[in-house]
Amino acid sequence: MHTLHTVAELRAAVQRLGAVAFVPTMGNLHAGHIALVHAARHRGLPIVASVFVNPLQFGPSEDLAAYPRSLDADTEQLLAAGCDLLFAPSVAEMYPEAQTFSIIPPLADTLCGASRPGHFAGVATVVLKLFNMVQPRLALFGKKDYQQLFILRGLVRQFNLPIEVIGIDTVRAEDGLALSSRNGYLSAPERAKAARLYQTLNTVAAAIVAGARDHARLEREAETRLSEHGWQVDYIRICALATLTAAAPTDTALVVLGAARLGNTRLIDNLEVTSPPHAL
Ligand code: PAF
Repeated sequence: MHTLHTVAELRAAVQRLGAVAFVPTMGNLHAGHIALVHAARHRGLPIVASVFVNPLQFGPSEDLAAYPRSLDADTEQLLAAGCDLLFAPSVAEMYPEAQTFSIIPPLADTLCGASRPGHFAGVATVVLKLFNMVQPRLALFGKKDYQQLFILRGLVRQFNLPIEVIGIDTVRAEDGLALSSRNGYLSAPERAKAARLYQTLNTVAAAIVAGARDHARLEREAETRLSEHGWQVDYIRICALATLTAAAPTDTALVVLGAARLGNTRLIDNLEVTSPPHAL
């Protein structure tokens, strides 16, 4: 596996490889990222991964400086997983001039976007740049970042990019906690409590499956339960899978999403759920 740092080298290498599958990451890789590489391998195309901590998607008071950077360990993991090419550009290589064009995606201000202004514009902008550089046939993203995946599917559709976007199931620790590069911020006592977000989503999902349709009430009760256990809740929302907006009582294909802080660590998670059809 070659590691390349410039766009020119990347373009030349990708041209030699032909059609590729692409796994964009911000590094500090865990089993969730490696699952994306394995899923890419099953598609039978050469795999390009990127490691780039994108400053554009961090707010001024967020963890850009602290975000873990571990390129050597990432390289070893990608090599072992069968990745063919790693693109690890510097900030100057990705943004040689101020990025004054950017993309403001739909849903940029809802769910996680409400408390992270500019985040999804930063994500969409860097992913479009990476797509233009790599020109992949397939791109793989984890479902843990459900809103990101939804927005990037829209990006590809609306800009007619010839790329198939594939969402891969969240990889979880034994207690159910979704693997995340930010889990490393949790103290031991916080880590012991961290699976509660997933458990809370499961409780909401179970109520939906059992026929509950008062979504606002389910959301409120779930938020209260989490707060009572010391979480600062950003949101618990029940959305329609097709639109990622508030689900109507008659919608059946749903996703329950949550974001909450334990101490200084913001965790997100989600669960797709099918509600029983509405009896008329
Ligand atoms: O999910 C991530 O790691 C990042 O948001 C992405 C898609 C690599 C863009 O920087």
